[in-house]
Amino acid sequence: MRCLNYCSILLICVLWSIIDARRPSLFDVRIDYYKVETTQDLIINNPRPRFSWKIRVLDNVSQRNVQQTVYQIQIQSIKIIQRDNQFAWDSKRVVSSQSIYVPYTGQNDLLPSTYYRFRVRVWTTNSEEPSEWTNWIQFRTTIFNLHEYLTKNNALLWIGSTKINMNELRKEFMVPNVSPIKSAITYISGIGYYEFYLNGNKVDTSRKLDPGWTSYEKRTLVASFDLTANITAGMNAVGVKLGNGWYSPEQHGKSGYGPPRLIFSLSILFENGNEMQVLSDQTWTGREGSIKHDSIYNGEMYDSRNDRPNWARVGFNDSFSLWIMPESMPSPLNSSLNGSLILQDMLPIRAGPDALNFEVMIDSQQQSYLNHEDIDEIKGAKLTDGGILKPVAMWISDSGLQTFDLGQNIAGWCRLRFRGPSGFGVYIRYGEALTQPVVSTNHSSRNIYTENLKGAAASDTYVLHGDPIGEIYEPTFTIHGFRYLSIFDPPNALTADDVECPFVHSETTLKGHFATSNPIINQIQHNIQWTQLSNLMSVPTDCTERDERRGWLGDAALTVDEALYNFDLIKLYQNFLNLIVDDQLDNGELPNFVPVGNYPSAPYWGPNYPPDPNWASALPTITWKIYRHYSDIQILKDYYDHIIAHIKYFHGLYNTTSLANFTVRYADWVPPSPEPMTNRGLIGSFGFLHDINLLIEMSQVLGKKEDTDTYSILYQKLAKEFHQVFYNTSQNFYADGMQAAQILALALPDVVPANVRDAVLNQLVTDINQKGKHVTTGIVSTARIFPILSDNGHHDLALELISSITYPSYGYMFNNPYENATTLWEFWNSPVSEREVSSRNQAMFGSVGAWFYSHLAGIDLSSNMINIRPRMASETKKHLMSKLDCQLSTLYGLVHVSYTRDKCDTVSNSILLRVTIPPNRRARVMFEPLFVGGQCKTLIESNKIIWSSDVGTVNDQGFDIEKDSTTGLMTVYTGSGQYEFQALW
Ligand SMILES: *[C@@H]1O[C@H](CO)[C@@H](O)[C@H](O)[C@H]1NC(C)=O
Ligand SMILES: *[C@@H]1O[C@H](CO)[C@@H](O)[C@H](O)[C@H]1NC(C)=O
Repeated sequence: MRCLNYCSILLICVLWSIIDARRPSLFDVRIDYYKVETTQDLIINNPRPRFSWKIRVLDNVSQRNVQQTVYQIQIQSIKIIQRDNQFAWDSKRVVSSQSIYVPYTGQNDLLPSTYYRFRVRVWTTNSEEPSEWTNWIQFRTTIFNLHEYLTKNNALLWIGSTKINMNELRKEFMVPNVSPIKSAITYISGIGYYEFYLNGNKVDTSRKLDPGWTSYEKRTLVASFDLTANITAGMNAVGVKLGNGWYSPEQHGKSGYGPPRLIFSLSILFENGNEMQVLSDQTWTGREGSIKHDSIYNGEMYDSRNDRPNWARVGFNDSFSLWIMPESMPSPLNSSLNGSLILQDMLPIRAGPDALNFEVMIDSQQQSYLNHEDIDEIKGAKLTDGGILKPVAMWISDSGLQTFDLGQNIAGWCRLRFRGPSGFGVYIRYGEALTQPVVSTNHSSRNIYTENLKGAAASDTYVLHGDPIGEIYEPTFTIHGFRYLSIFDPPNALTADDVECPFVHSETTLKGHFATSNPIINQIQHNIQWTQLSNLMSVPTDCTERDERRGWLGDAALTVDEALYNFDLIKLYQNFLNLIVDDQLDNGELPNFVPVGNYPSAPYWGPNYPPDPNWASALPTITWKIYRHYSDIQILKDYYDHIIAHIKYFHGLYNTTSLANFTVRYADWVPPSPEPMTNRGLIGSFGFLHDINLLIEMSQVLGKKEDTDTYSILYQKLAKEFHQVFYNTSQNFYADGMQAAQILALALPDVVPANVRDAVLNQLVTDINQKGKHVTTGIVSTARIFPILSDNGHHDLALELISSITYPSYGYMFNNPYENATTLWEFWNSPVSEREVSSRNQAMFGSVGAWFYSHLAGIDLSSNMINIRPRMASETKKHLMSKLDCQLSTLYGLVHVSYTRDKCDTVSNSILLRVTIPPNRRARVMFEPLFVGGQCKTLIESNKIIWSSDVGTVNDQGFDIEKDSTTGLMTVYTGSGQYEFQALW
């Protein structure tokens, strides 16, 4: 009897698990772009949030074509757990396949400053059973009118000091023990930078260099922290450290802002309905702490003898230093510019492991055709190593300094352990490169090269307090771009264990993984990802190390596509778009970099207005690329009027210059020395036409027909003019015949007439070949050359260019007599040309990274069907790209494309392609001919013939297959699932 019972239970279990195995589950749930899995405190600044989720099936080989049929969302205010009759909303079963940006459609808006929780479940085509509900996911709404809330309160002051370097402020307060605490929410901004402590502990320990950099007089960002779990009845203490950040005059010459200042508001709500507030005011005290000086460019001076470990604890009493009343400081905002306090609605800058989340499985190679040998050659640190770098080498430099090499160029700083007597000073110098050896044999004793940091001292000074077990120092309010560090005068030599260096950047999630059988391309991809991350400092910056690090619009426009393939950055770029439109003038004119702040004329780069057309292009380009990557039409609506104004501004300039003399500033910036720049008017005109074309596309998406018509007419007129003005009819090429001129003309729709297209392409290809298969391009045309070649029958040549290691090429950056780059150089030959300014961690040439995904892996997410069309090397060049493995995390889940050439037994002219399509999506998988004029013989999927040239589509295999008889392209339509195709040509 016992046994029978047991057996029947077992049977039920087995049956249940078979049914259960088909049951979908949900993962990576989002609320308004925020990843629930990785966000500690979900703060929603929106009374009508939207929800997204991804569907997982247990076995995507046997469970194909899974679609969502129904969803259900429930939202409750948290109080319902304790009391009845509170807010609750149930979408009920909604018959819909929508799984991204599903709106809250309840009758009433969500309330501000309220805790809610939500959960979701779905039904899918493959299972009778719905998914399990997700766990209840808690979020809180912010104060929706934050600026008004913080500024209407006259008791709330900006505090700081014009008399002393007041960078530590503290306040103790009594919380009455009358009723339990229901919530304790803080809003805080300290500019330039702040760090926030409560009862002795740092709040949000990995958060750094907060808040994000803005034109402070127009927008100052405010962070919010939930301290409900931390504040208790009785005495509590808060402490805030302040740093100069970008608010310091030191960052911009004379025209900077002023001393740091703090605004702080803590609201404690009790169960009995009472509220108490703790505000920044003159009841706080402040002093100069251990940080004697801090500067983003120049580093920090820190005297640890001034440390007061208990300064942010209750009962602290300092008999050694003077704590004085802070002054009431002017607000950084300028009300005549509609300056506003705004919730920082993007992820913060973080140090170390918390800065990077993962949606791709880099180390799991089981699904890929790549061997470990294929990818092991990459030089530099791995993103999966945890964001803390250790030295790979140590030596005493020629000038006698202990010098460490991290083996990887990063943005960040080092945590260093010193041992020695109190009062001993140590000086730490950071740099990206080493001095060139006079005789190239002696590499081991080289000094750090610092000329290219220009005016940035990039060094920290630390004074020991003499802890016998050693003391660890890391700077607080500075950041360095470096690979090497030298230590001047430590009382005791450091060992490699005494050095660890966090990689610091805006928090993001790695969503793309791209690896191939070509080690050059793999190293380029490595360098692109590390450069991109290093240059995410609340704004996308140009470089990491010298006295610049600006949000240059040109660099951002060129790299955004690559950045959005590799990382989840929608919030960071939305913030950047806000900074751009903050600094747009009334006539539509945009600047060359943002934040402009109150230094419209930058130190070295001349006036910030008017913009170069290819720089101003950041506004439409970033808007459009976010739309294409995130399929969210809202972004187009948000910036559309600003984009029209930007086009009108250039239209006005055009009316006075025509295209021949169109405005331009930086043009096709830094072509490889000694190549000249091509026709400048052409480069400027390219930017103008490019943006009008984007505007037309946006107007179509938004259904603004009048704009579509108006701007199509303008575009067609300009396209004709472009050709007339810049085409040389006797030579059959554009302008001076240089590569850039041909590329930019070809990149614009309807500019190059069909009858001269071949001649123009021929000019481009001939020139590349005459240069020994090298580019002569600057940043604007380099961003277009690879797709142009691939899309116009010269994919082999594109592969040869990207695989080149001779000057000028990407591969040269890590195959040259000088340096082994682990990030991207600013110039094609940085160690030689303009050596004293040249950055080794500059994002602008990273544009090619988009082509890796869009063409080499061939993944295009811009329509409602995923297009997968890996561009193929021809048979003679297949050694350049015989295997590829690419994962891309999309809004629906992971797309995985992995191929190998000639794997199908011994047949040449064949390809084995593995594709994974996430549930709730369909895909169009395209097979290119493997040689010119090639025709497919057989298409096989999971070892079954699904198409052959004799019988066409094999119907009972259930695939929809198309053959394009002119191009030979084979197209297979699939639903979700994992597929293994073989195409024999
Ligand atoms: C606040 O409480 C949470 C939850 O207990 C804890 O993880 C966090 O470290 C605390 N923060 C501080 C500043 O004490
Ligand atoms: C430029 O000239 C065109 C044609 O005359 C006119 O329609 C347009 O308003 C002008 N634009 C600006 C901004 O001056």
